[in-house]
Amino acid sequence: MRIDVIAALPDIVRGPIQHSIVGRAQDKGAVEIEVHDLREFAEGKHRQIDDYPFGGGAGMVLKPEPIFASIDAIKDAHGEPDEVIFLTPDGEPFDQPMANRLSMAEHLVLLAGHYKGVDQRVRDELVTLEVSIGDYVLSGGELPALVLIDAVARLQPGVLGDASSALTDSFQDGLLDAPVYTRPAEYRGLRVPPVLRSGNHAAITEWRDTVRIEKTRRRRPDLLEDPAAETG
Ligand code: ADE
Repeated sequence: MRIDVIAALPDIVRGPIQHSIVGRAQDKGAVEIEVHDLREFAEGKHRQIDDYPFGGGAGMVLKPEPIFASIDAIKDAHGEPDEVIFLTPDGEPFDQPMANRLSMAEHLVLLAGHYKGVDQRVRDELVTLEVSIGDYVLSGGELPALVLIDAVARLQPGVLGDASSALTDSFQDGLLDAPVYTRPAEYRGLRVPPVLRSGNHAAITEWRDTVRIEKTRRRRPDLLEDPAAETG
């Protein structure tokens, strides 16, 4: 898949994508990521990308022209993307089902805003999906764009070493993960649960299932709620 990122602060995105799973996904050709500097699409001596809000108020607003120009250039070079995603705290909550769905796209464009926001005409005319990574406000969309890229890149075929490991992640089946242990079997008097060393795979699976349900009930009871039960 191809991912184009348009950012006011592109270096925040360029560093981290070289490393770990996302770096490997690019090395393997599973994901091609290009990070575009919004300022390079701005006109004038100062290449201004933001301006004061009409009607007053705090903070600067990203101007429409550089964003329209950047997305036009990406569409001219690579065709119509599956989604143009704007990262914003008032977007749709990002979760594993959304990551799964987006991982099947061939081409995503991510727009990472900064300052107070982006001119609404960009959102009305260009953006097809608005995404929030959580109920807190960050200084810009660059870190949320990295979060989305990581979640989507690791789902590309051949990227994870163990082909089944994405399937056993927390949330893939709606439950949190069971605890994991490695050697030594005893450390500072703390023992690994004996069942994990028993070699009894049926017992291990049963233990993991029980612990996962218990942990989910304690930490994230919302994940166990039956959506069908939520009637008017
Ligand atoms: N930009 C600033 N905060 C954000 C958030 N929580 N999610 C997505 N984009 C953002």
